[in-house]
Amino acid sequence: MSAWIQTLVKRKRTKIVFVGLTVTFSLALILMVKLQSDTEQPVTKTHKVIIRTENAESTTVTERHKMAILVPFRDRFEELLEFVPYMHDFLNKQGTAHQIYVINQVDDYRFNRAALINVGFLESGKDCDYIAMHDVDLVPVNPAIAYPYPRTGVYHVASPDLHPLYHYKKFVGGILLLTRDAFTSTNGMSNRYWGWGLEDDEFYVRMRRQMLEIERPSGITTGYETFRHIHNRKKRRRDTAKHFNQTQELRHLDKKTGASNIKYTIDSKTDITVAGAPAKIINVVLDCDLKDTPWCLKPEYHTVYKAKGLIP
Ligand SMILES: *[C@@H]1O[C@H](CO)[C@@H](O)[C@H](O)[C@H]1NC(C)=O
Repeated sequence: MSAWIQTLVKRKRTKIVFVGLTVTFSLALILMVKLQSDTEQPVTKTHKVIIRTENAESTTVTERHKMAILVPFRDRFEELLEFVPYMHDFLNKQGTAHQIYVINQVDDYRFNRAALINVGFLESGKDCDYIAMHDVDLVPVNPAIAYPYPRTGVYHVASPDLHPLYHYKKFVGGILLLTRDAFTSTNGMSNRYWGWGLEDDEFYVRMRRQMLEIERPSGITTGYETFRHIHNRKKRRRDTAKHFNQTQELRHLDKKTGASNIKYTIDSKTDITVAGAPAKIINVVLDCDLKDTPWCLKPEYHTVYKAKGLIP
């Protein structure tokens, strides 16, 4: 090889090494910038995400979440008159997009809160990507109480640290938020809980089985004064009676019934406004399988149904 060719090859090698180093260095730089932007947490509290555009300018956009507030309901007109305008105003002030659905049980069976929530879930608009199961007699008075889109699937607003009455650890009643996906994963709630109570404890077990993590409010300093409980115990007696072998039957997890196989018919739907606040009323006729859950009947019907051989 002549001397000038050797020089040329050497130069070329130097050049290749130089180009190689430049490329490696640039890649490392790009990677570093990317890693840094990846570790930046989205600000979930305010539902804002940072989107990085190509020229590295950041733009802030609001995520479009909407909550369907499902209010299981029967015969509590004056509580509803307070609830709808109060909650509409409370949520608007914090910028939580929402639609209130009053799920009104119009059949003559005992009240079934869980079944009504299943119906509300199925009948509410798919523009709502999360639901709130909301008692009509419980409203937040501390404006720091948020109704966020649940990051873990479940967010318990009326936590046992804050609820005026219920303080046991596994309590998930009162006000509970779920994404549509999380609610679907549990097959909603059991349809077998006619009468007052226990359906939320059963739902806790359903959520545990799906390994759903329950988030709760933090940094709230108002304790048991955080919510107002409108309920008048003397005026509204709770239907806590147990009939047939209801107690034994409802002591266990219900693996059979839920949102996927609930039987009901919609009597009618009406849009209302209360003091300017909108709500949708859904009038529901629930179906009861007397062979499976005879305790759905009000006791005054027992004699007649027994005579007909429809219940044991
Ligand atoms: C409850 O009663 C029904 C019908 O009488 C029976 O089939 C069922 O096994 C009973 N359940 C329990 C837990 O005893």
